[in-house]
Amino acid sequence: MPLLIKNGRVVTADSDAHVDIFCENETITRVGRNLDVPPETEVVDASGMLVFPGFIDPHVHVHLPFMGTQAKDTWETASRAALIGGTTTLIEMCCPSRAEEALAGFETWMSQASGRSACDFSFHMGVTKFDDATEPQLREIVARGISSFKVFLAYKGAFGIDDRELYRTLKLARELGVIVTAHCENETLIAERSRELLAAGMTGPEGHHESRPPRVEAEGVHHLCTFAELTGAEVYCVHTSCAEALDVAMAARRRGVKVSVETLIQYLLLDKTHAERPDFEGAKYVMSPPLRDARNQQVLWDALAGGLVSTVATDHAPFDFLTQKAMGRADFTKIPNGIPAVEDRVNLLYTYGVMRGRLDLSTFVAVASTNAAKLFGLFPRKGTIAVGSDADLVVYDPSFRGRLSADTQTQNVDYNAFEGWEIEGRPSVVTVRGEIAVREGRFVGTAGRGNFLRREARPTD
Ligand code: URP
Ligand code: ZN
Ligand code: ZN
Repeated sequence: MPLLIKNGRVVTADSDAHVDIFCENETITRVGRNLDVPPETEVVDASGMLVFPGFIDPHVHVHLPFMGTQAKDTWETASRAALIGGTTTLIEMCCPSRAEEALAGFETWMSQASGRSACDFSFHMGVTKFDDATEPQLREIVARGISSFKVFLAYKGAFGIDDRELYRTLKLARELGVIVTAHCENETLIAERSRELLAAGMTGPEGHHESRPPRVEAEGVHHLCTFAELTGAEVYCVHTSCAEALDVAMAARRRGVKVSVETLIQYLLLDKTHAERPDFEGAKYVMSPPLRDARNQQVLWDALAGGLVSTVATDHAPFDFLTQKAMGRADFTKIPNGIPAVEDRVNLLYTYGVMRGRLDLSTFVAVASTNAAKLFGLFPRKGTIAVGSDADLVVYDPSFRGRLSADTQTQNVDYNAFEGWEIEGRPSVVTVRGEIAVREGRFVGTAGRGNFLRREARPTD
């Protein structure tokens, strides 16, 4: 059935106007004032509401075997949670182990999402080893519609690759026109410092951030940018947490390195004192890179507003506090890393970004949707409201007031890192390709309707 969203204030990354939006056959077919519509059209009255393009989370983990356990969400639960929070496209990190072949890993990750996800999805292909057999498999994966890789400069012995593998991955990416997303931390420094801290008796969650201070991340960014400079590859630093790492990325950009920066809602709003909470409560806040000194938050907000940081993601990685985080009670290096947030990113960014005067509405849309679409080859299909774009829309109620809680969330994990935080706004209606998937915080969509989004690589010569 055709859909009309009328009387709303429609905000994109570069426009802000009171217009109606008409959707048919999964796409937006008309945008304008006083549109005439066929009689059987479903009408959503958006009076008093904001209307945004569907939001994109460019960095999530759903299927994640990691640190001796498995992240808690499935694609059914994660996609529902994402949609309730206004996120209509997820890009997941496909992370095969080093023992697995790339193509087999890709097929495993695809099989987890296909037929289960209620929202559209794609993957960054994790290159967790690079041997003679890897290169043709990566070419095949790119031919199947993946235009971004993921490398880890951390997680020694798990996903981490060595410099030879990094060099070869970036050279291939440069040739194919694939952007390489990267977890930037120096794994040797982490391993050595962790050993020293444990030997000195620091076993609790606070040891995690002591083991990987800002310079460890900045060194990882520097390392990545050096390799990007020498290969000409385009790179994207995921989960950038601190001023030191941002400075290194910007210095590289000034000398011509093609580098973009992502931060996370967690780094904008939480700080390392959360990971210092007593009685092992801090374990809920263990992720990598770690939460930082609070002074970094203003740096990151300013960098978002100023266009230095392109995207706000979540790195959603849900591990239960009671059973999974508890694996590291006696040793912080065994606490599964990750802070879930896929459901709450948009509402938190709106409340603590837009409502607190840190971001204007168009920048909010840019960093939570449009910029990811542009960087990862989804624009203008996703990330904007225009004739021909997919009809992924968020009718946002700025008068809603509520509090976040694990008791009421849909993401499948036993805690919420933002427990009790107030939100000032939430999606009233969310559509995925013209079908209403959420009404007033309730999922009303179709499990398994999400499409895999083919993305074309863009070779430059
Ligand atoms: O702590 C984190 N970030 N967990 C998920 C894996 C990763 O490094 O992205
Ligand atoms: Zn990471
Ligand atoms: Zn991640």
